Amino acid sequence: MKSHRLIPLLAACLTLASCGSKEEADAAAKAAPTPGEIIAGSPVVHGPEIKKVDITNPLNAAWVTSGKAQYDTKCMPCHRLDGTKLVGPGWKDVTKRRTPIWIMNMICNTDFMLSQDAEAQKQLELCLVRMPNQNVAVEDARKILEFMRSNDGEK
Ligand code: HEC
Repeated sequence: MKSHRLIPLLAACLTLASCGSKEEADAAAKAAPTPGEIIAGSPVVHGPEIKKVDITNPLNAAWVTSGKAQYDTKCMPCHRLDGTKLVGPGWKDVTKRRTPIWIMNMICNTDFMLSQDAEAQKQLELCLVRMPNQNVAVEDARKILEFMRSNDGEK
């Protein structure tokens, strides 16, 4: 009798001990707005086209952390980190199929890319939702790019 009551308790302790980061991720996902809210609130603005991106080697660890935090609140509602499509394409290998400049423009000049760039338009045909421009500053987009590189296994 006594041991039966202990088993669920033990299981709960193990879950708590091992899954702290997953719970944090779940909490971040709950705090993040839904795709519909993001689209409704997104401004139609874009900055000057980005023509140059400096690539760090090794990765800038602080940028990876900051990029991850931005992903959790602004991108997670629509993008997964594996290869599966949610509202938009999964991010696995995105840094291998796109150049850094392309990615940075997709983040900062989304409307421009969706109206001018054939590759972006192909994704739009597949996803049937326009990625909203979320007014991400260029230096913040660079940190998201660093997080994408880390997600693709770069060190
Ligand atoms: C409301 C949903 C939504 C949000 C939020 C969103 N995206 Fe997207 N994203 C899309 C869709 C949909 C596409 C595919 C192009 C299209 O249909 O407009 C896309 C495409 C992309 C692509 C190109 C992927 C590829 O494989 O070619 C990148 C890079 C990208 N998004 C980055 C971001 C970043 C960074 C954020 C967060 C700052 C973000 N997205 C937030 C919906 C979203």
